[in-house]
Amino acid sequence: MRRIGVVGAGHVGLVTAACFARLGHTVVCADNDTDKICRLKKLEMPFFESGLEDLVKGAVRKSRLLFTSSVAELAKKSEIIFIAVGTPTTLEGRPDLSFVEQVTIEIAKAFTGIKKEPVSEKRPYRLIVEKSTVPVLTGEWVKRTFELLAPTGVDFDIAANPEFLREGSAVHDFFHPDRIVIGTENVRAKKLFEEIYKPIQAPIVFCDIRSAELIKHASNSFLALKISYINAISRICEKVGADVEKVAEGMGYDTRIGKAFLRAGIGYGGSCFPKDVRAFITLAQEIGVPFRLLEEVEAINREQRLVVVRKARELLWNLKDKKICVFGLSFKPDTDDIRESPAIEIANLFLKEGAKIKCYDPKAMDAAKKLLTGVRFCRNPYEAARGCHLLALLTEWKEFKALDFARIRKLMQSPHIVDGRNFLDPEALRKLGFVYRGIGRDI
Ligand code: UDX
Repeated sequence: MRRIGVVGAGHVGLVTAACFARLGHTVVCADNDTDKICRLKKLEMPFFESGLEDLVKGAVRKSRLLFTSSVAELAKKSEIIFIAVGTPTTLEGRPDLSFVEQVTIEIAKAFTGIKKEPVSEKRPYRLIVEKSTVPVLTGEWVKRTFELLAPTGVDFDIAANPEFLREGSAVHDFFHPDRIVIGTENVRAKKLFEEIYKPIQAPIVFCDIRSAELIKHASNSFLALKISYINAISRICEKVGADVEKVAEGMGYDTRIGKAFLRAGIGYGGSCFPKDVRAFITLAQEIGVPFRLLEEVEAINREQRLVVVRKARELLWNLKDKKICVFGLSFKPDTDDIRESPAIEIANLFLKEGAKIKCYDPKAMDAAKKLLTGVRFCRNPYEAARGCHLLALLTEWKEFKALDFARIRKLMQSPHIVDGRNFLDPEALRKLGFVYRGIGRDI
């Protein structure tokens, strides 16, 4: 078993740390947010992720997982160090890599004072792995920075091991990935990865660091492209009277296309796709290979938010002073994450038009309070629906399917539903007297 360090206790970092600890390694997880580390030491989770809390508690109890705010402490204790810190988008659309740089510097400086020793068991060796989503060539910068600052007595390798886990199923995704991508520069690093990923049954793609970095860009952008593609198709469906759900089904059975990520809706959100697509577009521009296809993917995604507002207008005429209840605020179900959530954006668009908003989300209301002002947050969906002219379903939480819509119908002032996720049963709702509008299936 190895000593592993994970810098960054965000979604990727904390899940990676807890899962490696579950596999039997001794893991140190660091974050510069001291408050977050204090809470983690008290076993309080900084965010909701299915299965994570049990994993963290189990690992801490077995002393396989410990938390610190000191990267230097982590660097001294760990042979393999994953960098999983945030890479937020700058105003120009580039990812801000200053946290990655800072962490690299702190790791390098942790070894100050180490004397050069002949290659031996005693000589410290560190495998530094980029795990955050970073633009191609970041590995090069990490290497240069480390070479420049670390004392010559430290032996090290740099590698890239991009993460593909999805929020809401991150723990499952760690143990059952479709593939593991590893970019290394030598056999020494490759062997370490083979060892730590041995218990996971998945194909491993070994490659150079740049290709590994590019695989992450290319994969996320391709998935975003599939979503925008089906959303573009949904607009055509509406014009010609076809049903996008059937079109997606018919396409998806073709194994070359696949069913996944062909759900039409209000566009992609979250902490990854919007940022990653933007970053790839900017990178492509900067290296002189404009990626116009992705620019269109982004444009379609932006416009898709407006579809719900347009449909609400078609049903209610003016939105000013109309009461709208919003069901779902997180960027997707099973998470309390509202980063780049299309639901929040749409609620704000309604507000701009003068509508009065009541909303309900099973998990994301606390987070949403910071981004939505002048909105009533309700304790349950029925309270949210009471007195409203229109219900907008914007996140497909399973519990919304089980609601008593006959009761909701009675509570509402007028029976209009815009289902931004094609999640509800149009026929059943129409039978109850609702006027139902979905995305690309209003036939
Ligand atoms: C994504 C990638 O899936 C994951 O591999 C990567 O590591 C991080 O980014 P995540 O952001 O957790 O994961 O969410 P995901 O389930 O991929 O959904 C992203 C967005 O696309 C959500 O807003 C979702 O509602 C939307 N989506 C997804 C659709 O609109 N239609 C679909 O068919 C699929």
